[in-house]
Amino acid sequence: MLKLIAAADRAYGIGKQNALPFKLSDDMAFFKRMTSGSIVVMGRKTFDSIGRPLPNRTNIVLTRDGNWHKPDVWATGEIQPVIDLSNEFDVWVIGGSEIYAQFLPYASQIYLTEVDAELDCDTFFPCFDKSLCRVETLEDHEANERNQFWLCYPQVFKGRPMRIGLIGAQGTGKTTLAKAFSARWKTPFVETSLSRLFKVRGLEVRSEMDFDTRLDIQRDMLDYLVEQLKNNPEMIADRTPIDIAAYSIAIAPYGATPEQCERLEQHVFECLEAAEQLFDSLVLIQPGIELTEEDIRRTDRGLINFVAQERITSSSYYLLSKVGVSKEGKSVRCGVIPLFLTELEDRLRVLDKFTTGVTHKACYVSAESKTLH
Ligand SMILES: NC(=O)c1ccc[n+]([C@@H]2O[C@H](COP(=O)([O-])OP(=O)(O)OC[C@H]3O[C@@H](n4cnc5c(N)ncnc54)[C@H](OP(=O)(O)O)[C@@H]3O)[C@@H](O)[C@H]2O)c1
Repeated sequence: MLKLIAAADRAYGIGKQNALPFKLSDDMAFFKRMTSGSIVVMGRKTFDSIGRPLPNRTNIVLTRDGNWHKPDVWATGEIQPVIDLSNEFDVWVIGGSEIYAQFLPYASQIYLTEVDAELDCDTFFPCFDKSLCRVETLEDHEANERNQFWLCYPQVFKGRPMRIGLIGAQGTGKTTLAKAFSARWKTPFVETSLSRLFKVRGLEVRSEMDFDTRLDIQRDMLDYLVEQLKNNPEMIADRTPIDIAAYSIAIAPYGATPEQCERLEQHVFECLEAAEQLFDSLVLIQPGIELTEEDIRRTDRGLINFVAQERITSSSYYLLSKVGVSKEGKSVRCGVIPLFLTELEDRLRVLDKFTTGVTHKACYVSAESKTLH
């Protein structure tokens, strides 16, 4: 995870003549506590202002000077390797202004201590959209001589909660992808085990069951899914109401009665509403992976074969196109992981686009003019 950590005055000032504009011992202790044992990334100018690598941390310095070397410091001329590193480790971006601005679009969290003072700074923290963040206030640093008699408020700004649902027929790799995504973003993975539901309710789908009975089971599944997912402010789930609606459409018989059509329509409508309410993003995985022999043999839930897979996928597409704005006015982002992306890393990269990190405003306060661009 990539996190930014900074202390700024009321005007978002962070530096003056390549030094900190304040002496805040409590905040320094807080900074040390947060970053110790982790990777810290800084610009060459910030490194110069500190004058040495920070102890108990892996120090990375960004510089465009290929000849720049210091003992116990990793130097890099690009930001991408640092971003890649943050997929596996906690990486703290510790400044200064140029470096914050470049990493802000990739940050999941910003630890910003707001210093209750206005100082005549020449470097500034870049703008980000606070209104789209969840804000947690950490302990205050008291106004005392250790903090130049200023009150300092350390806060953490986090990206909006993500609720992502993966849609796809059986054998598309939803669970594998959900687990990998959950590990990468530390987002809880909600495994919606239908076999558990079947066991608990004593359900069984048999091919000779009539459509009405099977539709009742699908409705039961919708209730179960809503129950499992509704209280998660942040999650990735490997099943959505869209899957249930698509499956219900796939099992509808030719020559269904008008009553059956009406029941199905009502059920599909309820599934769409539930999907809009439960998720921020819905991503459909095209069936690019071939079903294994074991998948094909699995007839426990009825229709698991190639034809069914295709039928469910085309219904899912149609339903996804109908997903819009929830009753509360929240719009749901929809996307597709295409057939040709079979590698997990490629799929994760697509899915990453559906996360909501801290929202970067396309502007920052320039050192020269102190104005917003
Ligand atoms: N209040 C706080 O929390 C806080 C925290 C940290 C720093 N600060 C303050 O911030 C000020 C320094 O900030 P700053 O914006 O002037 O400098 P900076 O961000 O620390 O460093 C800028 C330097 O980083 C290198 N760099 C930038 N982008 C790069 C890229 N994409 N690839 C490779 N190298 C890159 C360049 O080094 P080369 O010139 O070597 O190529 C550039 O000159 C100081 O006053 C410091 O005290 C405040």
